[in-house]
Amino acid sequence: MREDDLARVLAIEQRAYGFPWTQGNFGDSLQAGCEAVLRVDAQDDILGYFVAMAGVDEMHLLNLTVAPEHQRKGHARALMAAVIACARALPATSLLLEVRLGNARARDIYARCGFAEIGRRPRYYPAAHGAREDALVLRLALDPGSTATP
Ligand SMILES: CC(C)(COP(=O)(O)OP(=O)(O)OC[C@H]1O[C@@H](n2cnc3c(N)ncnc32)[C@H](O)[C@@H]1OP(=O)(O)O)[C@@H](O)C(=O)NCCC(=O)NCCS
Repeated sequence: MREDDLARVLAIEQRAYGFPWTQGNFGDSLQAGCEAVLRVDAQDDILGYFVAMAGVDEMHLLNLTVAPEHQRKGHARALMAAVIACARALPATSLLLEVRLGNARARDIYARCGFAEIGRRPRYYPAAHGAREDALVLRLALDPGSTATP
């Protein structure tokens, strides 16, 4: 993902979330040197993307999105495999993320990948009508010696 992809990324982001990232959020992530990766089709149309920040021995997944019209075709699984490969390459021993308590689709994918709940951030996300929603903090333990994808 580069700056000149951001108009197309934002168009997906705004359709995928009730509370989308802004252009500034993506721009800041690129400036900060985050891993920001697009999944594209043969025509170079964007199917989905992820943004992840590397730490000392951990990687933090900040954004994982599949365009609404391309969901339920396995693209999130493919993006997760790519995030995990990035984390292993660091090498990181943990892949961390936050997910909305009510995001059953994403929670299901993360559980299948082997993520475990390690914490909860009360009222972390904005929600409808001025309310707030808790985040679950999930961790995938990575064996530095292994190349297998969960
Ligand atoms: C969550 C999201 C990334 C899933 O993307 P996806 O490409 O549809 O996921 P996949 O096709 O790889 O599906 C993987 C698994 O997720 C679950 N899943 C995906 N879509 C689902 C749906 N509509 N209903 C129920 N389960 C669903 C299933 O377990 C599925 O496995 P299966 O279909 O093989 O049984 C996508 O819905 C999305 O971008 N949502 C909006 C943004 C978001 O919530 N991102 C995560 C923030 S933490």
